[in-house]
Amino acid sequence: MDGNGRWAKKRSLPRILGHRQGVKTVKEIVKASGSLGIRVLTLYAFSTENWKRPQGEIKGLFSLLIRFLKKELKELHKNSVKLKILGDLAKFPDEVQKELNGACELTEKNTGLQLNIALNYGARQEILYAFEKMTKSGIKNLTEENVSNFLYTAGQPDPDLLIRTSGEMRISNFLLWQIAYSEIYVTEKLWPDFTGKDLQKAIIEYQKRERRFGGI
Ligand code: IPE
Ligand code: MG
Repeated sequence: MDGNGRWAKKRSLPRILGHRQGVKTVKEIVKASGSLGIRVLTLYAFSTENWKRPQGEIKGLFSLLIRFLKKELKELHKNSVKLKILGDLAKFPDEVQKELNGACELTEKNTGLQLNIALNYGARQEILYAFEKMTKSGIKNLTEENVSNFLYTAGQPDPDLLIRTSGEMRISNFLLWQIAYSEIYVTEKLWPDFTGKDLQKAIIEYQKRERRFGGI
């Protein structure tokens, strides 16, 4: 979800207002994903590298996150959305951890859209963590399937489509293992300007791609 800061800058607004607008996009895209029958949506909200940002911005992001959950959880649950957090929550304030864990537990048995929110997430860290857990659990044969089963996304399909907003041509440590064969779609649109229609456009573009998975 990139481009909140630039969206605000273009309007001479503080960055946090860009993030606030970004939350509106989140709501719209979650809704649109449900209507389109998408099974899994993963939103990259906060990376392990985002701690480098000013304290004020980090605090603002957390408070937006808490507010989003408090306001939207009921509705998400009603729509059978199943929430999962990808990332290491230990570093977050207790209140944030409690809120997130509570939301995941509440929606655990839901069968609608699987909504992953990547928070304090870094793919390299996720892979290391998976190896660590594998070693501890005594699994000796190192297979691709075994590694997949120890990632945060265990049990979920690999992403078919990766959408990158604000024209950025890089992966930024996102789901490195899982996106091995994902189709990449880059749009110049900043995240706060991204709409359900844009999501549809990306999917139509995706449908035109020929996926060969290394074959011919
Ligand atoms: C949102 O966009 C990403 C988050 C960490 C929430 P940015 O804050 O990275 O926006 P730009 O890149 O400055 O435009
Ligand atoms: Mg950015």
